Amino acid sequence: MPAVPDLNPPARLLMGPGPINADPRVLRAMATPLVGQFDPSMTSLMGETMALYREVFRTRNRWTLLVDATARGGIEAALVSLIEPGDRVLVPIFGRFGHLLAEICRRCEADVVEIETEWGKVFDPAQIEDAVRRHRPKLIAICHGDTSTTMLQPLAEIGAIARRHDALVYVDTTASLGGNDLRTDDWHLDVVTAGLQKCLSGPSGSAPITIGERAEAAIYRRRHVEAGIATSADRAGPGVRIRSNYFDLAMVMDYWSEKRLNHHTEATTMLYGARECARILVDEGLDAAIARHKAAGDAMAEGLLAMGLRLFGERANKMANVVGVYVPEGVSGDAVRGNLLSDFAIEIGTSFGPLHGKIWRIGTMGYNARKDCVLTTLAALENVLLVNGARIATGQAVPAALKIFRIAEEKRAKAAE
Ligand SMILES: Cc1ncc(COP(=O)(O)O)c(C=O)c1O
Repeated sequence: MPAVPDLNPPARLLMGPGPINADPRVLRAMATPLVGQFDPSMTSLMGETMALYREVFRTRNRWTLLVDATARGGIEAALVSLIEPGDRVLVPIFGRFGHLLAEICRRCEADVVEIETEWGKVFDPAQIEDAVRRHRPKLIAICHGDTSTTMLQPLAEIGAIARRHDALVYVDTTASLGGNDLRTDDWHLDVVTAGLQKCLSGPSGSAPITIGERAEAAIYRRRHVEAGIATSADRAGPGVRIRSNYFDLAMVMDYWSEKRLNHHTEATTMLYGARECARILVDEGLDAAIARHKAAGDAMAEGLLAMGLRLFGERANKMANVVGVYVPEGVSGDAVRGNLLSDFAIEIGTSFGPLHGKIWRIGTMGYNARKDCVLTTLAALENVLLVNGARIATGQAVPAALKIFRIAEEKRAKAAE
């Protein structure tokens, strides 16, 4: 075997729909030494992480912890632990990640009812209540921000709808948490999961989750402590055993409780990273972070419009942290992305399914929701589009973006007075 060189990945500015460049503070946290999983310092770090994520999710839920997996693992843990075979689940779909929820629910042998809206739009809460009334689901599973379409589903009324009809609500906030308003308790959301690699400024590999009391009851009904660690005091719950061992939230919750009932070995380095992601956000203040994402997202959108490009989807329901923009006629979307990467070391994204090759997705999230990242990307994109023969307005994009940042800075200064 030839010698394997040192690990030396190229420097990139990651301006796609995630992952983004991790905050150096997170990378530093992840380089700190390991301790044993039951070391008092480790259990106290776990407690701090729970407290920090309660702030991030805006909740008082006791069960606010990490699933050791990428965001998809958090989704899977929530759904496999909530859904018993045959349960009816309503999945409102407005993009690829709604389809993912439906697919996972089917693997849990749910009776899945899908309602779908055109990509680029979101649901009116009345449409969801109407479907709940007709189908009487046990669970509503829905995305907050569906990165594939860049749309943000308003959620403020969904929890109340679910409670009126005795259903639970699960929400995937992988792409939205930390950059868009999300209020777990005020909006009565029963289980919410996320990932680190978008607005939380970290790498993928840890899935923060929060679980409310109604969901806790549904999950603990299914508690079956595994043989080898169960004691005579452990009685199996009346519900069907959760079909996954790794993603069994009853066991994961027992592990994060004072009992520290052994399940997996906590991924210590990811815990350090996840803790730092939340610490950065809480230090900045959630409202300030959301305002920063709004300023960067608006500046990117206005810069693209000033070039003469067209945005995808309803602007009023756009995620703050990612924008979809149509590939102009006569231009190859992949060639532009290739030139941006090879000449400017900037990554932007394409999209999936019906949108593949038709739109680019440009992210302004987490550590990269910054003025310099937005301006550099707009300037580079303008250059690459010209090289690729696109007919665009030149010299307009950066000033248009700068104007948005100036307004946001003035607003911030005024608020601080
Ligand atoms: C909305 C949404 N949900 C889930 C996922 C899956 O996350 P992961 O790739 O970390 O498993 C993504 C990833 O982009 C996403 O954007």
